[in-house]
Amino acid sequence: MNITLPSKSALFSSLAFIIITSGLANLAYGQLPKTIKINANHSLAKVQPNMWGVFFEDINFGADGGIYAELIKNRSFEFAKPLMGWSIQRKKANEGEILVVNRKEENTANPRYLQINTTNGSFGITNEGFKGIGVKKGLRYDFSVMYRQQNKGVKLRLQLIGANNQVIGEGTMIPEKTGNAWNKQSATFYATATDPKAKFSILFEDKGKIDLDMISLFPEDTWKNRPQGLRADMVQMLADMKPGFLRFPGGCIVEGMDLANRYQWKNTIGPIENRKMVMNRWNVEFAHRPAPDYYQTFGLGFFEYFQLSEDIGADALPILNCGMACQFNTGEVAALDELDPYVQDALDLIEFANGDINTKWGKMRADLGHPKPFNLKMMGIGNENWGPQYLERLAIFTKAIKAKYPDFKLINSSGTDPEGDRFNLLNTSLRASNADFIDEHYYRPADWFLKNAGRYDSYPRNNTKIFVGEYAVHADGKIIGSNRNNWQSALAAAALMTGLERNADVVQMASYAPLFAHVDGWQWAPDMIWVDNLRSYGTPDYYVQKLFSVNKGTDVVSLTAGEKPLTGQDGLYASAVTDQKTNELIIKIANNANATQTINFEIEGKKMKAKGSIDELASTDLNQLNSFENPQAVGPKRNNITLKGKKLNLELKPYSFNVIRIPYN
Ligand code: AHR
Repeated sequence: MNITLPSKSALFSSLAFIIITSGLANLAYGQLPKTIKINANHSLAKVQPNMWGVFFEDINFGADGGIYAELIKNRSFEFAKPLMGWSIQRKKANEGEILVVNRKEENTANPRYLQINTTNGSFGITNEGFKGIGVKKGLRYDFSVMYRQQNKGVKLRLQLIGANNQVIGEGTMIPEKTGNAWNKQSATFYATATDPKAKFSILFEDKGKIDLDMISLFPEDTWKNRPQGLRADMVQMLADMKPGFLRFPGGCIVEGMDLANRYQWKNTIGPIENRKMVMNRWNVEFAHRPAPDYYQTFGLGFFEYFQLSEDIGADALPILNCGMACQFNTGEVAALDELDPYVQDALDLIEFANGDINTKWGKMRADLGHPKPFNLKMMGIGNENWGPQYLERLAIFTKAIKAKYPDFKLINSSGTDPEGDRFNLLNTSLRASNADFIDEHYYRPADWFLKNAGRYDSYPRNNTKIFVGEYAVHADGKIIGSNRNNWQSALAAAALMTGLERNADVVQMASYAPLFAHVDGWQWAPDMIWVDNLRSYGTPDYYVQKLFSVNKGTDVVSLTAGEKPLTGQDGLYASAVTDQKTNELIIKIANNANATQTINFEIEGKKMKAKGSIDELASTDLNQLNSFENPQAVGPKRNNITLKGKKLNLELKPYSFNVIRIPYN
């Protein structure tokens, strides 16, 4: 076989061609400046103060084992296996006995307790925590328990046990009261070492008999130091975002696997020992990510959700069950003539949040410590429900709620997907019935997000607004866990979000989902914030979300390139707002090209000051992740910028998202 090799000169000339043409590509993106025109004078739409919010669901051990700072798993022995999470210590046989007693007639919410009969101080029980117990050296730990004993005698030795089985914190509690009534008592002690995966033991000293329930341990450093409260580092990450609203409690857990498993807010308020636990649906949802120890204790219940919303300056946005269980599971529905209790739950929730303290539910709120109303303005009816059965039920809710509270806003589901038959049926019917909000959800690849940056440019302008209630870029299925929150995903989300902002007259609220995931306990990824027992970090998505939220502005203004909105031309996506309170122009621009791009901004309509700032998120590696070790590998970097009159010339880094703030006179 004859092979003709190219001559050296031919090789060189084709190499030169490659260099020149790739140089031309670079030149096309990088060196020919693009002109973007902004007219800062005319407000095209108002940006709602609550435009950018957060979505909270107890998924991935986000609440129990996560933000709810309780360290004891299965504290009231109500898991399907009553001693799950607990082990028994005995040095010798017959040192002590444990009985799991069920008094379901007397106490339906919290039927089980432990009966301890002990003869020796080396008999005890140990709790493994959710994914271990995170303990910090020098920190106080607050133990509490409900107990009942006929005679004094048993003393409780409380011990934190470190990885090498050494005691790293110790206290005692001598139960003081006797008789038939249940009592609550607490004790505190300090940790002598830091350990992310400690255990907690109670040794029963001396001879005696005692009943125990609600065995609880909290760190002292909860958010606002509230007893039995929330993990401060996790709440702080939310507070730093200054979210406009907090959507809770989901998500699919609103629906439940079946109606019995649905979220019922009335079971989540009041003394924690009376909050009837249910299995968390994520316990069994994914066979490949089983979570047999996942339950909802409701220690973070509706009162705490309202309180959390208030703490972080967010509007509360509860989502209620509409009389339908998850249609991917049982799809069970409440009979139409038995929907009243569901509708009543919605009406009572409004009274609980806003009612005068002389009303039944307003009084309940006051008794829980919040006489002032929570100023609830909206709620969602159903999560990802669809079909005619949803429309029928929604109509009943809407009629009853609007009859009593005509200005109260209702969020309606559009199902699970942003297109297709289910979506089309709901979208058409809900618009025909003049719905306040349609809740759109999209979990799609990066490419879909980029293509949909102009999705809302042609949406109808009428009374029906959009709430993008759940969205996240879902990378290739082969990428799993926290690796899914790479820079490519966050940048594509940023690109789409410029389209949400540009259409703020139509899209009035949006929240990335889900919010939290525990590295040892996740079921669903990507997620915005990853945590372990002691630490938390924000993903690149977190910083994108935060940059939008803290730079939301008040008015959308026109931003065009060649008379058109920037929805992907040359890999550029952009929007602009003014902040009429601070007198600033804020430009958001994503460069999704693998090249530096030079941009000439020409700003009309306001007299701009000469100095401004740019916050830049950038990485040339689209697979770049943040981590506990490197939490800001993709994190905002701030630089100063200078304008010449009405012109601003900037070089945008390859694969970057940029927020530019310029004050005006
Ligand atoms: O965000 C995770 C899940 O995605 C939510 O629970 C559900 O609403 C959606 O399908």
